[in-house]
Amino acid sequence: MAAHTLSGKKILLGVCGSIAAYKACDLTRHLRKLGAEVTVVLTSGGARFVSPLTFAALSAARVYGPMFDAQDAHTIPHINLGRDHDLILVAPATAQTIARFAGGLADDLLSTLVLAADCPVLVCPAMNSRMFTHPATQANLEKISAFGYQVVPPDSGPMACKEEGPGRLPELAVMVSAVEKVFTPQDLAGKRLLITAGPTEEPLDPVRYLSNRSSGKMGYALARAALRRGGQVVLVSGPCGLEPPPGLELVSVRTAREMYEAVLERFAEVDIVVKCAAVSDFRPARCAPVKLKKKGADLFLELAANEDILHTLGTRKQGQILVGFAAESQGHLAAGKEKLAAKNLDMIVINDIQGESTGFQADTNQVTILTREGAVQELPLLSKEETAMAIFDSVVALAGGGR
Ligand code: PMT
Repeated sequence: MAAHTLSGKKILLGVCGSIAAYKACDLTRHLRKLGAEVTVVLTSGGARFVSPLTFAALSAARVYGPMFDAQDAHTIPHINLGRDHDLILVAPATAQTIARFAGGLADDLLSTLVLAADCPVLVCPAMNSRMFTHPATQANLEKISAFGYQVVPPDSGPMACKEEGPGRLPELAVMVSAVEKVFTPQDLAGKRLLITAGPTEEPLDPVRYLSNRSSGKMGYALARAALRRGGQVVLVSGPCGLEPPPGLELVSVRTAREMYEAVLERFAEVDIVVKCAAVSDFRPARCAPVKLKKKGADLFLELAANEDILHTLGTRKQGQILVGFAAESQGHLAAGKEKLAAKNLDMIVINDIQGESTGFQADTNQVTILTREGAVQELPLLSKEETAMAIFDSVVALAGGGR
């Protein structure tokens, strides 16, 4: 199975003196879980909030602190730490440390190694909102952005100081996705994508509905992959209860009719559509306004056909790349080819929905990608994240082919 983007990446995590320093513990754990090696450098303020011992245990590595530590003098850490890492991530970054970076100061280990570094630097500010919005801090952030450091904007909300406003350390998921982006080619930058995910629910009465086993995992993995590659994403999602990744526009729908309207409304504004949702082909012809009572032994349902959303897009497309999915249990390739042609698609992703490790609900998938030009690519069993990345490799190749 292919490795995660962060697998084997060496990340130097600078932790400064903010109450948000405790969140850097979770960040360390999470980055390691994704396969990264994490080395922590604590400023003197950072060490007052969380002890070096905590970070040593969480990172399973030596934690660096004061600049003039005789123990390290022979390894020249202020030069070598920056040189030996793939990324310097500063989270939380305080006003003081940001000012140090902006002024080119080298009066502690973190500021010195940042000054000497030749790897990317990602800064996640965390401070009181008046400190954050102060013109001095804003000017410093502009300055470090001009140096090429990336700044992840802080969240807004209630803070430890009992004030509210911008300055909270971004959520873990936001910081992790910013880190993943550093290591991912931004080949969807400037592209607007519409991705559909999950099932639809077709109500029969206020408590019952027709639906299917789609968990939304494949569609949400596609949305995460597109965001990571720099795309602007609208996710039209049926009810699946998954946490949407940060940084996209989520449109929640329930029925096929609602999905049809949400997709059609946005179609003209996007460059790429990936229709991964498992849309109900039929709905109960009538939805009872009150719970249906049990009358006799049998109940016959009359079903009405739903619109085929993808087919409609195929008749209206004007330069958009249209990617469909095909959920198949037999004659996969032939059925996929037929759907590709019938719905006027540029690409179709065929998945087997019979195995336990592919298709509905699984964390993995095994797909075959067919393009309109006749190219066939069979992918191995991969996680849905990896499958999504491979699908976008093909989409990017298509988009580069003169569209
Ligand atoms: O959500 P998971 O649990 O992760 O599972 C993922 C998945 C199996 C749902 C996904 O990988 C998948 O195969 N999605 C497509 C399911 C499906 O509806 O396939 P289909 O062969 O019936 O439809 C073909 C295409 O037409 C699909 O792109 C579908 O979105 C679209 N369609 C279908 C019917 C309809 N009324 N409107 C549509 O747009």
